[in-house]
Amino acid sequence: MQTLAGKKILLGISGGIAAYKCAELTRRLIERGAEVQVVMTKAAKEFITPLTMQAVSGRPVSDSLLDPAAEASMGHIELAKWADLVLLAPATADLIARMSAGMGNDLLTTLVLATDSPIAVSPAMNQQMYRNLATQENIATLERRGMHIWGPAAGEQACGDVGPGRMLEPMQLVERCEQFFGDKPLQGKSVLITAGPTREAIDPVRYISNHSSGKMGFSLAQAATQLGAKVTLVSGPVSLATPADVERINVDSAQSMFDNVMDNATKHDIFIACAAVADYRPQTIAEQKIKKTDDSDQMTITMVKNPDIVASVAKLSESRPFTVGFAAETQDVEHYARTKLAKKNLDMICANDVSVEGQGFNSDDNAITMYWKDGKQSLTLASKQQIASQIILTIAERLEA
Ligand code: PMT
Repeated sequence: MQTLAGKKILLGISGGIAAYKCAELTRRLIERGAEVQVVMTKAAKEFITPLTMQAVSGRPVSDSLLDPAAEASMGHIELAKWADLVLLAPATADLIARMSAGMGNDLLTTLVLATDSPIAVSPAMNQQMYRNLATQENIATLERRGMHIWGPAAGEQACGDVGPGRMLEPMQLVERCEQFFGDKPLQGKSVLITAGPTREAIDPVRYISNHSSGKMGFSLAQAATQLGAKVTLVSGPVSLATPADVERINVDSAQSMFDNVMDNATKHDIFIACAAVADYRPQTIAEQKIKKTDDSDQMTITMVKNPDIVASVAKLSESRPFTVGFAAETQDVEHYARTKLAKKNLDMICANDVSVEGQGFNSDDNAITMYWKDGKQSLTLASKQQIASQIILTIAERLEA
């Protein structure tokens, strides 16, 4: 059976160049049995005509809050209740900002406020507008409210820039809709994820840490939740909002991450170690702030090894979860990743080349190759959300294999 058969999708189009792709998107959704009601903002009509969207959707387009004729046929509240899914594509920076502020100053934003249906947002804008802190904070707000953020993709943009901000292609959005309505591959499963850096204290005011922002691990937590899993996220110190429906445990040092993971590991079906855990910590933590001395220009800190969290989980003899590690490499990626896969007894490892600018530590995008005993799969540069969805889908497949 088609997963979209009979599903009612309210497609909200705002004014970006990617709006032209909505005719194709609508056709593909309808081909798969969905009913599509198009709602357009004023600016969207500058990029694609309501007549085109009416022709491909087979329904009159709604575009005004204050149109008595439209209100008489299907009023905006009725429209908001009609949808099984509200899909906003393309969602411009302006639409996202208005939604984040809770505004209802046109039909589309009013519907967003009035619906209790799930909402998926497919951002599309110039890469610099996407990277702007205001946009990032607005997207994080929508995510925190439980909206699904689908994309954006990275690549060449209509304006000539290169970077994240491209709307997902119509078929990718159709696949997201199918995934959304289809069987959730991780339904009934629980996933434990580590994310972010650890901090290894030197004295009460200093520590050793690294550049992990937590974005990759938090994206994995969100993707796993969206694919049906119950997720526990053990996070080092990061400034990210917890994804909707995720249980978060905050930790600081590698030892506290280890303790929390070991307390929880056997209660979960899958463990993903995405955190950048410090391999070593200062042997002693000075009780008072260490003072600068005049008698030497050098200072020596003796470091001792931290417990290896992912290897300890993989060693469990009872109730061992399917264990996935990460490998942050700067050279010989496949060799080092495969060595870690074998040495730490992992089921799968996700290797990223962190020497390449624009991916890995503290970036919005990543490129990953996943390795398991007798196979591998590469994911080219894309937003961490997209990479995370692909990783989670692959884990779900490997779990069955
Ligand atoms: O957080 P972001 O800014 O989004 O960046 C994402 C990332 C680059 C941190 C992420 O994609 C990543 O690569 N995480 C693993 C970083 C790392 O520590 O790699 P590693 O090769 O040193 O460690 C190998 C594996 O062992 C990892 O799964 C790590 O979590 C785990 N490990 C390492 C040491 C230790 N004591 N315990 C561990 O569990």
